[in-house]
Amino acid sequence: MSDLATRLRTKVRLRTRMQKYWAARRPRHLIVNEFHKLYYDLEGETWGNTQWLGTGTWKCPFDLWTYQEILHEVKPDLIVETGTWRGGSALFLASICDLMNRGRIVTIDVEEQPGRPLHQRITYLLGSSTDPEIVQRVRSSIGKGDRVLVILDSDHSKDHVLRELAIYGDLVTPGSYVIVEDSNVNGHPVFRSHGPGPMEAILEFLRKDQRFETDRSREKFMLTFNPNGFLRKT
Ligand SMILES: C[S@@+](CC[C@H](N)C(=O)[O-])C[C@H]1O[C@@H](n2cnc3c(N)ncnc32)[C@H](O)[C@@H]1O
Repeated sequence: MSDLATRLRTKVRLRTRMQKYWAARRPRHLIVNEFHKLYYDLEGETWGNTQWLGTGTWKCPFDLWTYQEILHEVKPDLIVETGTWRGGSALFLASICDLMNRGRIVTIDVEEQPGRPLHQRITYLLGSSTDPEIVQRVRSSIGKGDRVLVILDSDHSKDHVLRELAIYGDLVTPGSYVIVEDSNVNGHPVFRSHGPGPMEAILEFLRKDQRFETDRSREKFMLTFNPNGFLRKT
């Protein structure tokens, strides 16, 4: 074999080894972000095509599993969800409550949807999550000593989420959570053109409200639609 052929083969072998070396050391978050973008942009196949017991829910399955873990740990008596859509996420929460034999769900939406699942643990409220009348109805459904957990998944503009955090943050019991959904938009890392949204609201809220801290342990599956969004009340 000629000198040139040997040198070429060595060069290729070296290059392959270097590629493998750098691939293994590629920062983990870059890989996760790329997958996150792929998953998010294929909406019709992925999160836009996700059902719980036949009802559509706009959720990432990793987050639903995390919800199950949080519910098991916190054992809330009342879960308040803003943003019902078809009711798939409310039904998921009710199913976990059934398994635990504990908990009710109050879910709020400005729009009605036909065929939402009927379940004895779920109460549907029609109206805006920040409407004082709706807030009063939520407050009055909290019993003495109830543990309350809140999930914000309605209008994802920064201003609206900030208003919700100010209202519903007070209702959350210590040790429980307010979960702010879809903090991944506005380039964190998806939907760059969204404009200030949940992530910006979370950062501003946490600067002022010392009662809450981000629980990053809830992001252990790496892909979450709620980065920074699992806020635990101390
Ligand atoms: C992201 S979807 C909710 C998805 C649902 N939680 C799920 O996982 O399947 C957002 C919902 O919020 C509702 N919404 C928008 N603005 C709202 C507001 N101010 N108050 C309550 N709901 C609102 C919309 O009508 C829509 O159904």
